[in-house]
Amino acid sequence: TNNVQLFSPFTLRALTFKNRMVMSPMCQYSAVDGFANNWHLVHLGSRAVGGAALIMQEATAVSPEGRISAGDLGIWKDEHIEKFREICTFINDQGSVAGIQLAHAGRKASFMPPWEGDEQVMSGPGSWQTVAPSPLPFKPQHKTPVELDDQEIARITTDFVRAAERALAAGFRVIEIHAAHGYLVHQFLSPLSNLRKDAYGGSFENRTRFLLQIVHAVRQVWPEGLPLFVRISATDWTTGGWDLEQSVELAKLLRETGTDLVDVSSGGNVPDAVIPAGPGYQVDFAAAVRQQSGMATGAVGIITSAGQAEEILVSGRADLVFMGREMLRNPYFPLHAAKELGVETPWPDQYLRAKR
Ligand code: FNR
Repeated sequence: TNNVQLFSPFTLRALTFKNRMVMSPMCQYSAVDGFANNWHLVHLGSRAVGGAALIMQEATAVSPEGRISAGDLGIWKDEHIEKFREICTFINDQGSVAGIQLAHAGRKASFMPPWEGDEQVMSGPGSWQTVAPSPLPFKPQHKTPVELDDQEIARITTDFVRAAERALAAGFRVIEIHAAHGYLVHQFLSPLSNLRKDAYGGSFENRTRFLLQIVHAVRQVWPEGLPLFVRISATDWTTGGWDLEQSVELAKLLRETGTDLVDVSSGGNVPDAVIPAGPGYQVDFAAAVRQQSGMATGAVGIITSAGQAEEILVSGRADLVFMGREMLRNPYFPLHAAKELGVETPWPDQYLRAKR
């Protein structure tokens, strides 16, 4: 009916997204022992009712110690699958795609939910030993993480694979490996958090080894027809850290390893970085990765209007637009965006009498 990019379908492998709007993964700190509950069903389900093409579930831990907080979702045991299956069925029944972000927090684990203070829990309930590529705390007052050995690195890789198998059984159709925001994989990528002298540290090739190993292993169990995303922080926003140039090189390697889209965020690995956050402030990173590596990209970060999202796509800076806080404010953002851009889009039958 039109050539509005925001409502054009997008195909990766054998999966077609009905439009370009993605609900960005957002921790809800509302799980117990990793289990999803009705909060997650309603939270994720209402954004599917609202018309987003892809609903990316929050950082979901591949092991208990990989949780950011004790309230994080987890997918480290088969018992977790049942509730996820209910959530995926609901999302998929709305014509949206259910996606899951698989995560390990590394040294930034054992935290409080933000509304309780956003600090590390140092002892008692919700406190556990953290792990990392190197024994460097994120902040001086934090726990010193235990340096992972080869065997533990192999085990965590396997944890990602088992998590992917469970995600498939639950009905998720997109996996996103969380390699951003200063969590475990990002800790390996950045020379500021990785001081290893072995095959996993030092050179660019060595620092990217852990992520590429995870993607390679997950690809063995994730169906050929389904897409795999990786979320990265394009820059640490500080000299001597991970940067855009390395992100572009990484994207080329990820492409060869079977990654279909890089979701381009930034920051989170060092506490003192100065980040010029403003409307669309990370979009140029997505554009650079897309143009220089040939990888499909997702743009994210203070994208709050239909016109802004449309412009990102029209200018060829990204293939998908991830939206976080705007989707929290307005679960029906995509339905409103259609109206605003003059696109005819289906509403849920149950809500048709409210359609304008
Ligand atoms: C986030 N963000 C986030 N990112 C991620 O990769 N995994 C996660 O689990 C979370 N959790 C999370 C919780 C909450 C409450 C917020 C607000 C954010 C970051 C989020 O996905 C997004 O990248 C940023 O919020 C920037 O996009 P917006 O919100 O400006 O559209």
